[in-house]
Amino acid sequence: MPEVKYRLYRDGDEVGIVDVINKCFSSFNGWGLTANKWLEYEKLDYAFRKDMALVAEYDGRVVGHVQLILRKLKMGVRKYLLNGGIANVSTDPEFRRRGIATNLMRLAIKVCRERGIPLSGLFTGYPGTAHRVYRRVGYANTYFMFTFIAELDEIDEVKDVYPVVEGIKIEEIEPNDVNRLDELYRSLHEGCAGVALRTRSYWLNKILGDKVSFHTFFYDNPEAYIRVKAMLGNRIVGYALAFLPYKARYTYDPKDRGIILEILGENSGIVGSLALHLFKAFREHGLKTVSGSFPAADPYLNVFEGFNVFRCGGIYMEALPRLDVYLREMSEEFSSRLEDNGVKLDAKILFTSKHAEAGIRIRGHQVELYDGNKYDVVVRVDWDGLTRMIYGIEGFIDLYSSGYISVESKFDPRKVLTALATMFPLRVFHIWRIDHW
Ligand SMILES: CC(C)(COP(=O)(O)OP(=O)(O)OC[C@H]1O[C@@H](n2cnc3c(N)ncnc32)[C@H](O)[C@@H]1OP(=O)(O)O)[C@@H](O)C(=O)NCCC(=O)NCCS
Repeated sequence: MPEVKYRLYRDGDEVGIVDVINKCFSSFNGWGLTANKWLEYEKLDYAFRKDMALVAEYDGRVVGHVQLILRKLKMGVRKYLLNGGIANVSTDPEFRRRGIATNLMRLAIKVCRERGIPLSGLFTGYPGTAHRVYRRVGYANTYFMFTFIAELDEIDEVKDVYPVVEGIKIEEIEPNDVNRLDELYRSLHEGCAGVALRTRSYWLNKILGDKVSFHTFFYDNPEAYIRVKAMLGNRIVGYALAFLPYKARYTYDPKDRGIILEILGENSGIVGSLALHLFKAFREHGLKTVSGSFPAADPYLNVFEGFNVFRCGGIYMEALPRLDVYLREMSEEFSSRLEDNGVKLDAKILFTSKHAEAGIRIRGHQVELYDGNKYDVVVRVDWDGLTRMIYGIEGFIDLYSSGYISVESKFDPRKVLTALATMFPLRVFHIWRIDHW
């Protein structure tokens, strides 16, 4: 019996990879993934590289596949870090339950470690076989996702509660709005973590062009979208992107629904005005329901207050393949968090958790990676908790006070706790659906 071999992409693998993906996902099969479309992803999206496809090969045939999506995620005020995102995990139905996906996932983490990629995140359903496979190899339960959903009729009844800005004009977005949209996207996510980096060509290829994305791997015709900007005088002060599944060539979304893919504005009134515009448009299209995934913060909690919020069985999992690289890349950000808050400390701190261990040295406000073997402080963190802390889903203090972190310190622990709380604050975690992989 030949053995199953695990390896990176080789020329020509695309045919076998696409065959396995189409056998395993009705979404790709229905959408019509072909080897040519798979190769074309490389031109559309900086995060897709064919040489980052992993395969399981049996007797010359691709029987399993995992794609690494190298998207950069926002982890600090201005800092984006590389994420070896896991996508399209698939094992040919004839070859399941013999460890192929588990071995491919182990290889994916190894590739991230060897290439110094600090993060590796994935989206999956909870609970289920896939979730258990990921958990077994070290992915944490980082964030349970949720969706805002409403009947359009019910929104009608509470219309007057929406904040609006007088004098706003809503117009179609044009490709030459790209710089201003990118500026808004960056500036309005100051306090957020997770949000994906978008290059100019990403905006033009995936959002403003003819192949409009509703997910990293799925796009459709512009007719299936509403792409509008909010204008105050000559200034663009917000924008919204919505998807109309009933007009799409293919989608797994309900056909009676309008989906708000993204909505951003300089204040609640602008987001409210854009939302009301979309609801009206959805009604004109004869739709019945509306949904969207938004950051759990204002202006969204305010504007979408009348919606029902559901945990939809989706979870974001993180494996943190290189805690040391994460700490090194974030050291400047940590230093400015300490400096801005007037917090000083002299200490060598080791972070230790089930699947990762690395240290830092703080001198005054300055933080740097430290890989010596003598530490003044040892911070033991629960694994799920560590992944939540680096994304700011929970702050250091929340985890410490609920018992997910213990701190052993040679000197006054209060100063140490203050420094750690300052370095790891609570933030708003969100990744917009277009960028999901
Ligand atoms: C999810 C999926 C990738 C798993 O692939 P797989 O190669 O069968 O995965 P593994 O063999 O590593 O593990 C699957 C199960 O087999 C078990 N298993 C692994 N090796 C085994 C062995 N030698 N003998 C018996 N059972 C074994 C695992 O414990 C696991 O069991 P569990 O569900 O009780 O936890 C596959 O079912 C698939 O392609 N599904 C459709 C696509 C999909 O949903 N992908 C995930 C998207 S996020």
